[in-house]
Amino acid sequence: MIPRLNSLPSGAALWSVLLALPLLAQVPIPPAQLAKLPPALKRPVDFKTEVYPLFKATCFKCHGPEKQKGKYRMDTREGAFKVSADHGPAIEAGHSANSAIILMAAGLIDEMLMPPPGGKPGESDPLTAQQIGMLRAWIDQGAVWPDGPIAEVIQPVRFEPDIQKLLVASCTKCHSGAAAEGGFSVDSLERLLAGGKSYGRVVVPGDLRKSSLLTILAGKDEDIPKPEAHRIPEKSIKQVEEWIRQGAK
Ligand code: HEC
Ligand code: HEC
Repeated sequence: MIPRLNSLPSGAALWSVLLALPLLAQVPIPPAQLAKLPPALKRPVDFKTEVYPLFKATCFKCHGPEKQKGKYRMDTREGAFKVSADHGPAIEAGHSANSAIILMAAGLIDEMLMPPPGGKPGESDPLTAQQIGMLRAWIDQGAVWPDGPIAEVIQPVRFEPDIQKLLVASCTKCHSGAAAEGGFSVDSLERLLAGGKSYGRVVVPGDLRKSSLLTILAGKDEDIPKPEAHRIPEKSIKQVEEWIRQGAK
């Protein structure tokens, strides 16, 4: 179909639109793109136990007390709600689809995927649809951020399902069943705590220093064969650390 000429903006109107564009701080995201955002979760979201821990785990490295990349700081309410000239409000209460942290986490703003893709695998995985949906729900529910410092909430880490899942993925190939290498098996909590033939116990509940498993997982144990088969991502090591700190249960 040939477009009817009178349905197009007149020459002058078109130019005024084009000239105004560079003045708009925020480049609007086309609706078709916005439609790709993972939907907000349909349940109440808790800031202290869900939102803050996610920010801490995935953003504070660059937007926390030590570094403020892009002059953006997320560990304080005032900082987190920054309105930037380039990207508009980082968080706009009630409007997750207009909040830069959501658009960036979903990769809808060119060159601004947050967290930025990193060099080492596992170090800066993009947020999952579930995590973005959780953040959207928090913002849509009013982005409640209590005044004052946030009391850290320690999430319990358990062998099942947290640690076992992680070790099954990286270790079962060689450390399972009767033929487990070095007699070390990740098949059950009991067997893991029992340790191996030459290392003995590698997990000492509550004692990070004596838990040699952490050195092994960091790829820093030079006596172990195939140290590269033993290295797991930093994020996973942190979880194992927290599990041992909490008593390895
Ligand atoms: C490895 C470092 C790193 C991590 C981790 C990271 N960012 Fe960023 N972030 C940056 C850098 C660098 C910039 C500035 C980029 C630019 O302006 O080109 C930035 C900019 C931003 C901005 C824009 C600020 C402004 O004033 O416009 C927002 C919003 C943002 N990040 C959100 C997040 C969120 C949310 C997370 C966690 C899910 C996160 N970032 C994780 C490095 C990081
Ligand atoms: C590709 C095979 C392979 C993978 C994958 C692997 N290991 Fe090993 N591992 C070995 C071998 C070989 C030894 C040496 C066994 C020996 O001394 O007889 C060993 C030894 C060990 C020991 C010392 C056991 C002892 O006391 O002798 C521990 C602990 C260990 N591995 C933990 C792990 C953990 C945890 C993972 C997963 C993150 C893992 N390994 C992944 C092959 C592997």
